[in-house]
Amino acid sequence: MYLWIKAFHIIAVIAWMAGMLYLPRLYVYHCAAEKGSVQSETFKVMERRLLRGIINPAMVATWLLGLWLAWHGPDSRYGWFASGWLGAKLVLVIALSALHGLLAKWRKDFAADSNRHSQRFYRIINEVPTVLLIVIVILAVVKPF
Ligand code: HEM
Repeated sequence: MYLWIKAFHIIAVIAWMAGMLYLPRLYVYHCAAEKGSVQSETFKVMERRLLRGIINPAMVATWLLGLWLAWHGPDSRYGWFASGWLGAKLVLVIALSALHGLLAKWRKDFAADSNRHSQRFYRIINEVPTVLLIVIVILAVVKPF
């Protein structure tokens, strides 16, 4: 049972991260599209579907399955919560979830044609999930502490 849940945790993580890397990239291109143009309206549909259809459900699944794994870790009383790596991982996953919230807010701004950020801003934001992903995976697999 534990390994099945872990497999689905990793599948959910892949879907969440794929969306978290793709959405800010769409924002980079959306910045270049003229407001009211066909291109801009197409980006709005793509962004809404990506967020609602993939990123949101994948985040919920990642959290639920991850917390289940955490409670069923090796320590009979505290599960993996007794291990340092999980605490560090949770801090970074909360940061990732906060970024998710910001991306959802910016999507609404784009939908209302009131985006206030530059292409460069979204290019930089695009790197944040990559860095978080690398550190989180190392913590989960290597468990350095
Ligand atoms: C949402 C909160 C999360 C919680 C509570 C959580 C918790 C856990 C736990 C307890 C394990 C089991 C470790 C083991 O059996 O060795 C695990 C495995 C794993 N998690 Fe998460 N996780 C979360 C999110 C994430 C995210 C966002 C990523 C990647 C970006 C991630 C990547 C992994 C990987 C790659 C494994 C497999 C580790 C291995 O088997 O060696 N997790 N997670």
